[in-house]
Amino acid sequence: AGVSAEPTSRTYDSGGLPKFSFENALVPKDASVKKLLTDALNRNQYLKRLELQQIRDMVECMYERTYQQGEFVIQQGEPGNHLFVLADGKLDVFQHSKLLTSITVWTTFGELAILYNCTRTASVRAVNKVRTWALDREAFQNIMRRTAETRHDQYRNFLRSVSLLANLPEDKLSKIVDCLEVEYYDKGEYVIREGEEGSTFYIIAQGKVKVTQTTEAHKLPQTINTLQKGDYFGEKALISDDVRSANIVAEENGVECLVIDRETFDQTVGTFNELQKYLQGYVATLDRDDKKRHARRSVS
Ligand code: CMP
Repeated sequence: AGVSAEPTSRTYDSGGLPKFSFENALVPKDASVKKLLTDALNRNQYLKRLELQQIRDMVECMYERTYQQGEFVIQQGEPGNHLFVLADGKLDVFQHSKLLTSITVWTTFGELAILYNCTRTASVRAVNKVRTWALDREAFQNIMRRTAETRHDQYRNFLRSVSLLANLPEDKLSKIVDCLEVEYYDKGEYVIREGEEGSTFYIIAQGKVKVTQTTEAHKLPQTINTLQKGDYFGEKALISDDVRSANIVAEENGVECLVIDRETFDQTVGTFNELQKYLQGYVATLDRDDKKRHARRSVS
C-alpha cells in the first residue's frame, strides 16, 4: 500500500537478516521541509520530550509516501511500522468504523504504536490523495539507541577524567555509567547537609559547589573549599556509615551531579575489590587531611 521512495536502509548481514544502517537511511530534503517536519514532530505531545538531536535525526531519516483516496494508511489492531507527518491532503481517524476526527497537514500521526510498541490504536484513511513523510520503526529505534550509546560514551569519557576513577578498567567504568543518576541543583540548594546520614556519592559534571562546615569558632558554617567539574564528594558514603562531614551547596544554577548510591554501587561494582581498596585508600588520605585541617584551625 502506498507509493513510496523508501531509503536504501535495509542491507543484509551474512545470516540474511536485515541490518539497519543510519547512514543509508538518511534522505536529503530541503531546509524548508526539515523545518516543517521538525515543528510538526515537536508539536506532538508524546514526541516533544525527545532531545533536539533525536528530532533532528528523525527528520533526516523521513521519506515520502503517498496514498490514494480511500486507501488505509494505518489499520487499527495491526503492528505499526512507521510514524508519519501529513504533508498534503486530508486523513480521517476511525476506531471500529466510528469517525473520531480528521488530521490536517503538518500533523504527526501513527506515533503511538512506534513509541509504545503497541498495535495501532485507530485506523487512518486518506480522504483524498495524500502525501506523507514517514519514518520507519527501525530508524526510530536506532535513533533512540544511538542517543543512549552516545550519552553512555560521553559519561564514560568524562568519568575517565575524574582522578579517583582514572585507573579503573573499562568494563568497571562502564558499569558505573550504567548505574548513574543525574541530578541538577540551582544556586543555594543543598546537595548534602552536614550531620545527615547519606549513602550517595557525587561527581560534578557541570558547575561549581562550595563545601561549608560548622566550626567551634563560628556560628555559621564556614566555606572550606569549592569544587568544580571533575571533582567529587560524598565518597565516604560508599564505604562507611559515617554521617556527612560537611555541607555541599550549589554555587550556580544548573549544577549537574552524577550520583551513585551505595546499594546500586555494591550490586554492580561492589565485587570489584580494586575500586573498594582504591576508595578506602583515598578516604584514609581524606581523614588525614581533615585531621590536619582541624588541627590547623584550632591553633589559628
Ligand atoms: P497509532 O496508534 O500508532 O496509529 C493510529 C494513530 O491515530 C495513533 O497512533 C494516533 O496518532 C492517531 N489517533 C489515535 N486516536 C486518536 C484520536 N482520538 N484523535 C486523533 N488521533 C488519534
